[in-house]
Amino acid sequence: MAPSTILFALLCNQIAHAHWSPAAHEIIDMTYVMSEDSLVWPGFNMKFHYTRIRRAEWKYGAGWLEDNDICRPEHQGTHLDAPAHFARGKWYVQDIPPYRFFGPAIKVDISAKAALNRDYNLEVKDVENWERANGKIPDGAILFVYTGWGKYHTNSSAYYGYDGAGDWKNDLHFPSVSQSAAKWLAENRKISAVGVDSPSIGPSSSYMAHVPLHEKNIFNAESVANLDKLPTKGYSVAMLPVNIKDGSGAPLRVIAFKTVQISPGPEDVVDLTYPLGNSTVMWPGRASFKLLPVQKGYMKIGNNSVWVEYNDFCGPEHGGTHLDAPAHFIKDSWRIHQIPAHTLIGPAIRVDISKKAANNPDAILTVKDLHDWEYENGRIPDNAMVFLYSGWGKYVDDHEKYLGTANRTHWINDQGQILVHFPGFSGEAAEWLVNNRKIIGVGSDTISFDVGQTTSCPAHVTFLRAKLLALENVANLDKLPPIGFTAFVFHMLHVDGSGAPTRLVAVKNSAISFNSDDTKVASDGQMSRPLFAILLLPSFFVLTVLM
Ligand SMILES: *[C@@H]1O[C@H](CO)[C@@H](O)[C@H](O)[C@H]1NC(C)=O
Ligand SMILES: *[C@@H]1O[C@H](CO)[C@@H](O)[C@H](O)[C@H]1NC(C)=O
Ligand SMILES: *[C@@H]1O[C@H](CO)[C@@H](O)[C@H](O)[C@H]1NC(C)=O
Ligand SMILES: *[C@@H]1O[C@H](CO)[C@@H](O)[C@H](O)[C@H]1NC(C)=O
Repeated sequence: MAPSTILFALLCNQIAHAHWSPAAHEIIDMTYVMSEDSLVWPGFNMKFHYTRIRRAEWKYGAGWLEDNDICRPEHQGTHLDAPAHFARGKWYVQDIPPYRFFGPAIKVDISAKAALNRDYNLEVKDVENWERANGKIPDGAILFVYTGWGKYHTNSSAYYGYDGAGDWKNDLHFPSVSQSAAKWLAENRKISAVGVDSPSIGPSSSYMAHVPLHEKNIFNAESVANLDKLPTKGYSVAMLPVNIKDGSGAPLRVIAFKTVQISPGPEDVVDLTYPLGNSTVMWPGRASFKLLPVQKGYMKIGNNSVWVEYNDFCGPEHGGTHLDAPAHFIKDSWRIHQIPAHTLIGPAIRVDISKKAANNPDAILTVKDLHDWEYENGRIPDNAMVFLYSGWGKYVDDHEKYLGTANRTHWINDQGQILVHFPGFSGEAAEWLVNNRKIIGVGSDTISFDVGQTTSCPAHVTFLRAKLLALENVANLDKLPPIGFTAFVFHMLHVDGSGAPTRLVAVKNSAISFNSDDTKVASDGQMSRPLFAILLLPSFFVLTVLM
């Protein structure tokens, strides 16, 4: 290789390694916090509720354990409609290619018309007017329809336009999207999704706007929060649904970004999340996840007979790919809804201990492994998510191999002998990371990021005491390179959770670019643009001299 080639490779390497994580003022969290008081669709039998709450002292760890089970409908609060909701044979939640969850956010404002007429629905002419003022809707966009209904989201009769009598299929009134506008968008623009701040993409007279969108695998976000704060264009958005296997919908986390465009192609994302289903392996003694079918078939709505599918689901907060809130192990610390949204995004790095774990289910990630990683890849970037790759992902469907015990009910026996075996972080490595590097969180491809053979759980205690994000059952770490991606840790958002199912997706840094007119705002954030320039300049200089 010629020196110039080497330098060029070095240069590309630096470009790929530009790190980003947003500052608090650079995001809009467009997700409602779910609670037992949250509104639910009229006619639904189930609403979000806890089925088991454990908040009490514990013999192990730091002496405290919070750990709950929940049940809820797929379609409550801020949620995704997967195309399978209204189009038979189209994508379920786990079938949507994750790159489609990111894109330019555009907002069409029909709030003035909706204020005069609660049955007003977005028309083709509203979209045409938007394009006359703002240019063509970009490919891959996520289009939000702003009706102004967010202000009613705690008042059922105002939000749904329902007086509590009659059939929801004929008696709801809220603004949304007309069938003709949905059809026009599906046929004429390459959008990934349509979101709305009212209860449904609607329209409330027929629900037929779903059909042309879902037929084209365009998904929806419903009950989107804070749409009044989103500008007409210029922001980008990430919306990540809990990865419910065969779900027709799912709890959705929606966050918009002021300073960057996130436009990944299919090859630019690694989905670090397992689909969550009835057969997901749980910690010994925990309830299993259950997807409970409610409706799957043709339904008469107005004069139409329409295919509709939806489910409820029940399960532990700590099941499948999930986040531990600090309160899981630390008394009086943050529960899931108290984690600041802007801290859910940061550089993803992967530390590979798969070689030593191959023949040792009790292998640990040590401080030396972290030093070795830095020797190879440079200092762990600020705001990093540090992922432990043990290779355990290949056992995820095999209870005995994944947990290191065939026992389904106990992880420790009456003699105090620990039954579970799997790799994890050592206590020293956890302390070193917390004390010497500025990271936002950790994750591992095992059922717990502490090694199986511990009752003191030093990694949990250390990371959760430091209020870091802590993820378990992380998928596809074999596909994540050591550095060069950004992790989005979008957890289900509910009041007082000790943890939550989480959609964790990594996006290649080269698919994230700064808005060009936003340099000033950008430098307030966490991206080290000045540093980036300092690194680049000498490389250009040397390159020029050599060539
Ligand atoms: C809820 O909305 C209804 C219908 O718009 C209205 O009459 C009622 O006053 C509202 N309730 C509250 C508590 O705001
Ligand atoms: C999951 O379990 C529930 C409850 O046992 C059952 O009703 C449902 O059919 C199961 N779903 C699948 C996809 O097996
Ligand atoms: C259903 O069809 C009848 C008869 O054609 C019509 O009067 C009515 O307005 C239709 N209802 C809806 C909701 O479209
Ligand atoms: C699991 O462990 C508990 C506690 O030692 C024991 O009572 C139980 O029999 C074990 N179950 C199986 C299936 O081995």
